[in-house]
Amino acid sequence: MTSFKDALLFRHACKVFDADKRIDATQLKEILEFGRLSPSSFGMEQWRFVVVETKALREQLQEACWGQPQITDSSHVVVILAKKASVEPVTDYVKTMFERRGLPEAMFQAYLEKYASYFETEVKPYMSTFAWSSKQCYIALANMMTGAASLGIDSCPIEGFSREAVDELLEVDADEYQTAVIVTFGYRKNEGTEHFRQDADDVIEFR
Ligand SMILES: Cc1cc2nc3c(=O)[nH]c(=O)nc-3n(C[C@H](O)[C@H](O)[C@H](O)COP(=O)(O)O)c2cc1C
Repeated sequence: MTSFKDALLFRHACKVFDADKRIDATQLKEILEFGRLSPSSFGMEQWRFVVVETKALREQLQEACWGQPQITDSSHVVVILAKKASVEPVTDYVKTMFERRGLPEAMFQAYLEKYASYFETEVKPYMSTFAWSSKQCYIALANMMTGAASLGIDSCPIEGFSREAVDELLEVDADEYQTAVIVTFGYRKNEGTEHFRQDADDVIEFR
């Protein structure tokens, strides 16, 4: 793969994976790194990546995902959990995330205040903490998918699932996490499907 655009063109929502082809451990690690290294609002890294490996768990997960075959036929499934309680203003987790920057005390306090006021005016009136964290999870999702494509690896993002069923299956701590989105990785069995996209003029404007 030579360019970012090549990777975007290679990537498609792969519906049929070759169930016999596995991603090697080094490449899987690399894809997870693409997620881990992603940017997030206030640098809160409001995510957790759960790699579902075992056949039994995958089969149960498939049931919670509308029976979609990608869950069992792909090489690896990653469930991206969005953080909830720990990113509320202002928890120890939030403090730790700012503290690690080694800021002078006054700046550290200013960050905490800004975070709390941002939450009050820009998050709470518009969305839940889960929704805000989920937005960050989707940045990681995109980086993982395009990054995988740059390695010649296919993926399928999955929102077609029962959140309640997936959370229950993974025994997610309901105060702290909720499933944001799921993504499968592996190798396509068939040719990639055509990309349908609106023209640039329909979606881009300059002012
Ligand atoms: C957040 C998200 C969730 C999606 N959920 C599913 C899904 O549950 N099952 C599926 O087959 N495709 C799913 N898709 C794939 C989209 O239908 C697909 O990306 C879109 O039609 C554009 O096609 P392309 O990705 O092949 O270019 C999802 C895509 C995104 C971005």
